Parts: sequence; C-alpha cells; structure tokens
Amino acid sequence: MVGIQISKTSHLIAIRDLKEQEIVEILDYAKLIKQNPSHYHTRLKGRILALAFWEPSTRTRLSFETAMLRLGGSITGFSSSTGTSLEKGESLSDTITMLANYADGIVIRHPLRGSAKLAAEIAQKFEVPVISGGSGSQEHPTQALLDIFTIREYFGRLSGLNVALMGDLRYSRTISSLLLALSKFGRNTINLISHPSLRLQEDLRLDLKETNLEIIETENISEVISDIDVLYVTRLQKERFPDPMLYQKVKGSYQLHTSLLKSVKDTSLILHPLPRVDEIPYEIDRFPQAKYFTQAKNGVYIRMAILDQLLGGNFVE
Ligand code: NCD
Repeated sequence: MVGIQISKTSHLIAIRDLKEQEIVEILDYAKLIKQNPSHYHTRLKGRILALAFWEPSTRTRLSFETAMLRLGGSITGFSSSTGTSLEKGESLSDTITMLANYADGIVIRHPLRGSAKLAAEIAQKFEVPVISGGSGSQEHPTQALLDIFTIREYFGRLSGLNVALMGDLRYSRTISSLLLALSKFGRNTINLISHPSLRLQEDLRLDLKETNLEIIETENISEVISDIDVLYVTRLQKERFPDPMLYQKVKGSYQLHTSLLKSVKDTSLILHPLPRVDEIPYEIDRFPQAKYFTQAKNGVYIRMAILDQLLGGNFVE
C-alpha cells in the first residue's frame, strides 16, 4: 500500500499520509529498479496513465512519462489548459471525472492547495489512483521521495544528518514535503536559511514541533556551511508571492557562491529540486558535491516504483 486509501483505492497525495515503513518500502523498491530497470519493462503493459498538469513542469511530468513508458505502459493528458476544455471553463472535478473514465491512474499538478485530495475523492469512485505532482505551496510528495532516496543513496541512512534548507521556505512545496519526510526518521538537525519574509509556514512549523527534528534558523549560510551534510537550495517561488514588490526586495538574496564551496565538506551533497534561476551558479556544477542532476534522474526510479505499486499491484523482487 502507498499513501491514503479512500474506499478500495490508494492514492499518493501527501507525505503527511505516509508511515515510515511505507516510505522505506518505496525507497527499497526504487533501489531495486535502479539496479536493473529493464527487468520491470512489462510491469504496466496495457495500462494508461493520465497526466493532468495545470502548472508548468519539466522534470515531474517528463519523469512520470518516462517512468510509465519504462514500465511498458502508455500516457495521455495535458500540460496546460491550452487546447483543452479548461479554456472553456470546465471544472477540475469534471476534468478528473473524464480522465478517470479513460485512464488507470492520474497524476495531477495544480496551483491550489487541496487539489490533489479533491481529485482523489473524485477518481476513487472509478477506483482510479491519483498521485500528486504538486498541490500549490502545500506538498510535492514524489519530489520529497526522490530527494530522500538520493540522500539515502549517499549516506546510507536518513537519520543523524545535518541538513540545511536555503531559499524560499515559505512558498516552496518541496521544502514542506522534504521536512515532513525527514521528520519520520530518527533525529536530524535542520538549519533553515532564508530571508525573514520567507520563513516556514506557521502550520508546518507547528506540525514539526511534535517531531524529532532539531530546527535552527539563521539568515546567514556561512554560519553553518562547514558542518552540513546536505545543502538543499530552492528557487524563490515568484508565481506564489502575494506581492510582486516582495519578490523584487528578496530576489537574488540567497545565492550559493563558489567561494562558499571551500568550506563545504567533501562528503556533503548539494541538492536542488530544479528549476534553478540564479541560486546556484553554473560553475558549481563541476564540484563533486553538486548532485542535483543525479537527484533529478532518481525521480524516474522513484516514480517507476510508485506507479508500479499503485497501478500494477504488489512489489516484485
Ligand atoms: C518544483 C515544484 O514544482 O515545486 N519543481 C519540481 O517539481 N522539480 C520546484 C520549483 O518549481 O521550484
């Protein structure tokens, strides 16, 4: 089982819904797939995945497509409202109802918080699983799974780590999901590095209070850089800023300079969900700690594991 079960159908809507054991099962299965991807090439033969993307996407949409194709399945769907009846004003609920009539699974990305949950409630009537590809600033569960898959791949564990999250901590859904994921495993230290106006959302902060995470807030990365195991950088989520003036005020304030890299441990990882804007200059790509493209590639294995589980049935060895 992955995620929440509504009636007979399982959906992956949020990291909040997952238990540590379920997360470990997905990571272990993705690891097996990564070792021998061709072994799984007929797992979803004859199945169709619908991609319903109301927001722009490169990695999430294309890695879901790749994952489905690598499992032997097929894809349908849309990547913007252009050319669909959304332009005529069709609702989310009617759109999901139609896709649930056509396909065996749906991945949804939508600007509203709660959108994936609503889609799951609609699609479960047809016993069609829904996977969130990002719900507004709320959560992005498959991104967090590929993030922690990458962390575990390098450190062999998901506890006892010193992690720094830098950039837009307020509107970035990848930050919310990653924090919730890390909070399920042992004790980790989290350094939050952001402009004061981009600190964590209050509801998330309250939820994390109940967990094992030790949270430290700072505005200055140089105070912590030499101690961290994982530096996770995000772009400012310009499209979610309520006031464009705020974006103008804070843009460019959190950039990783090559001079800072001198202090980073050799064994550290620099991660980013991508796309980057100006937070990580291109010169940093050549540093061995820069692993954001490996991280993005791992998204295919994680999404193969999730699709196999939700659309196909049980894990195979
Ligand atoms: C992220 C997203 O859409 O939330 N992108 C992604 O899926 N890799 C991060 C972002 O857009 O900044």
